Parts: sequence; structure tokens; C-alpha cells
Amino acid sequence: MPRPKKRCTQALIFLALVVGILFFFHDHDLELFHRTRSQDSENSDPQDKVIQEPQHQQRIMEPQTLALSKRPLEPCFANVSAANLSGFSAQPRHIQDFLLYKHCRDFPILQDVPSNKCTGSSGDLGPVFLLLAIKSSPKNYERRDLIRRTWGQEREVKGATIRRLFLVGTDADVLEAQKVNQLLAMEAQTYGDILQWDFYDSFFNLTLKQVLFLEWQAVQCPDAAFIFNGDDDVFVHPDNLMIYLQSNKADEHLYVGYVISNVGPIRVPWSKYFVPELVVKENRYPPYCAGGGILMSRFTTRAIRRASHLIPLIPIDDVYLGMCLEHEGLTPVRHMGVKVVGIQSPSRRIGSFNPCFYQDLLVVHRFLPYELLLMWDAIKKPDLKCSKTVLQTPTN
Ligand SMILES: *[C@@H]1O[C@H](CO)[C@@H](O)[C@H](O)[C@H]1NC(C)=O
Ligand SMILES: *[C@@H]1O[C@H](CO)[C@@H](O)[C@H](O)[C@H]1NC(C)=O
Ligand SMILES: *[C@@H]1O[C@H](CO)[C@@H](O)[C@H](O)[C@H]1NC(C)=O
Repeated sequence: MPRPKKRCTQALIFLALVVGILFFFHDHDLELFHRTRSQDSENSDPQDKVIQEPQHQQRIMEPQTLALSKRPLEPCFANVSAANLSGFSAQPRHIQDFLLYKHCRDFPILQDVPSNKCTGSSGDLGPVFLLLAIKSSPKNYERRDLIRRTWGQEREVKGATIRRLFLVGTDADVLEAQKVNQLLAMEAQTYGDILQWDFYDSFFNLTLKQVLFLEWQAVQCPDAAFIFNGDDDVFVHPDNLMIYLQSNKADEHLYVGYVISNVGPIRVPWSKYFVPELVVKENRYPPYCAGGGILMSRFTTRAIRRASHLIPLIPIDDVYLGMCLEHEGLTPVRHMGVKVVGIQSPSRRIGSFNPCFYQDLLVVHRFLPYELLLMWDAIKKPDLKCSKTVLQTPTN
């Protein structure tokens, strides 16, 4: 019976095609999935590193790609007795990771900034007055790019020098890391503003980033009068910042931003900020400034660094800085011009994206890269006219 047989063959071929197509897209989806995962540094999972070979290759390549790399450090090993803590195995992966590696505080520098960054010994800028230390993830190229072109420009404002650097770790995904490390090397070469260490740039490693920065700063930039420490998605008004800082003293306590007090560790496991008792026993945090944008003086930076040598790391970086402050008997101070937690326009008639609204502010968060550009352009306009009501800074 030839006809059914022919049909059968056709059906088989068709089926094979469908299966083939399905497989193709399946693989494709998987790849996309992995890519998205690897971009989400907060969820980096070392067990996902299925491909061993490139990891090995990367090791071999390191000396040549990382010509700037300083002393080779002893690798820091996991503290296996942390795994013996009761309740350890029930913790989410990133909590376990934190507990296993929280004693590690020394990591090699992959990209450093030029040695005259802060001294101004050559070039047209003087010694640094305000150092912008901006926390950035390796892949956030667009944000860094826009910050360089807008509020983060290295320049002189009211006779004082602003210098910029980005604090970056490495991607937890080996293949992604090879790519972005190359990007960061290019940026370092071109702009001299990349400070990169060889540790996983994850949300729970932000405190590590802070303490590494403080150690670097003690050696390479100890004289900066003030430091802005913040995220790469904020908008900073440098002129307002300079006016404010110039009316303060570098060798007195200054730690200002959006103060958060009377809160404690979040104990719900699905929260991004989940911190179990295993990590922080206390049920309250000291008052602290939200990490989106903090201003500190040279005096206070030293105090925090001193305390950080004594206080074990906790995973929430801005709370950790608050703990260091408390240890030194210092307190954070609220500044109305720092809006890094929610933002509301003072009036419903003007949108919150109104340059007049930003005229009096120092730091505002959650800007898309292109919005930085628009806002920068708007506040620079000499004919910017704002009515009195808009100019009044909202009280909350
Ligand atoms: C973990 O606990 C077990 C049993 O109490 C003990 O034998 C082992 O030495 C501990 N391991 C570490 C690394 O502390
Ligand atoms: C390792 O973890 C255990 C249990 O948390 C802790 O007592 C010990 O101090 C840790 N060791 C280091 C070197 O951090
Ligand atoms: C922090 O970085 C170190 C070094 O890369 C890594 O071993 C550790 O797992 C990271 N910790 C977290 C919580 O991501």
C-alpha cells in the first residue's frame, strides 16, 4: 500500500522538522536565560558555572589581560566551619555564600586609576576637593558613560576640583567576565576612572566594595576633603553640592544624606534585603544614610575606616557604614536636598521631572541614562526661570 507509506514518511519528516526547530529554539532560550541570569549579578550562582574550560583559560590569560594587576594575592578560601552553623543548609544560596566568604577582605586590583588622580600633580586640575566614588556594576557601561558626560565631569567648580571614579567588581559568570573585563580595561585606558577588584560584584558584596574602597582611599587619595559615595543611577547637582560642602569643614564630622532610623533586618526570605539571624543577630540597625547618595568629610571617612577594621562585614553596605559611625560615636545627618528614597514633586501641576524642582537638590535617584542627559542640559540653561513655589524644597 504505497499511499499510506508515503504519507507516513512525510509525517515522519515533518515531525523531525518540528522537533529540530523546537530543539533549536530551546537551546536559544536556554542561552538567553543564562545570559539574563549572568547579567543579574544579585543572583549569581557559582554552581551554574557548568563550563570549566574557559575558567581555566581565563586563569592562563590573566597576566596578559591584566597587565595593570598589582601583587598577586593569596586566594581566600571558604570558611568551611561556617557550614556547621545550625540552620546554614536551609539558607538561600547567596546567604550561604556570604557566610562562607565574609572574612575575605583582600582582593587584587584589576584596574587602578592614574596615580595623580587625587594629587593633581600633572594636568590642569588641582588637588581633589570632592571625590565622586560611584558604585557601578561591570555591565553598566551606559550609566558610566552618561555620568562622565553630565554631573560626573572632572572639572573645577567654584575653584575646587571634582574627581570621579567608579567602584566595580567582576561578573560572576566567567564568559561574561571576560567580556566586561575587556570593556573595563578600555574604559580605564580612555577615562582613567575605573577602580576594579577581582571579587564578584553582587548585591551582598557591596559592603566588601565599600571597605576595599576605604583601604584604597587611605593610600591613594587620603587628602580628598569630601567624598560623595553613591549609586550610578542618581542625578547629582555638582554646583549645589560644592556650595554646600564649601560651607563645611573637611576635618570635622560630616555624614549627610537620607537618614533611615528605627529599622532592623528584614527577616522575610524572599526580600532582596533578607538578613537572617545567622548573619545579624540584633533586631535593630543603627541610624544610617541610604546608600544611593552619601556625603562625607575626610574626618568621618577616616573614622569609618578605623571602625571597619573592627566590625565584621554584614551584607547591607549602607547599614554597615552606619554601624561604623555608631562605633565611633558619630551620627548621620539628614539633608533635605538628598532624595534617594522615593521622589515626589512638590506640586501636582509640575511633574517630578522638572528642572526647577531639581534646582535646590543635591542628589536624586532613579534616573535613566538619557534622563541624566536631559536634566543636565536643562539645569545648565541660563534662561531657566522658576517660580517661587517650585523653588521651595519640599519638606519631606
Ligand atoms: C563540623 O561539625 C562536625 C560535627 O560536630 C565536626 O566533626 C567537624 O569537625 C566540624 N567541621 C568544621 C570544619 O568545623
Ligand atoms: C568561620 O566561621 C565560624 C562559624 O561562624 C566562626 O566562628 C569563625 O570565626 C570563622 N572563621 C573566620 C576565619 O572567619
Ligand atoms: C563575594 O566575592 C567573593 C570573591 O569573588 C565570592 O567568593 C563570594 O561568593 C561573594 N559573595 C557573595 C555574597 O556574592
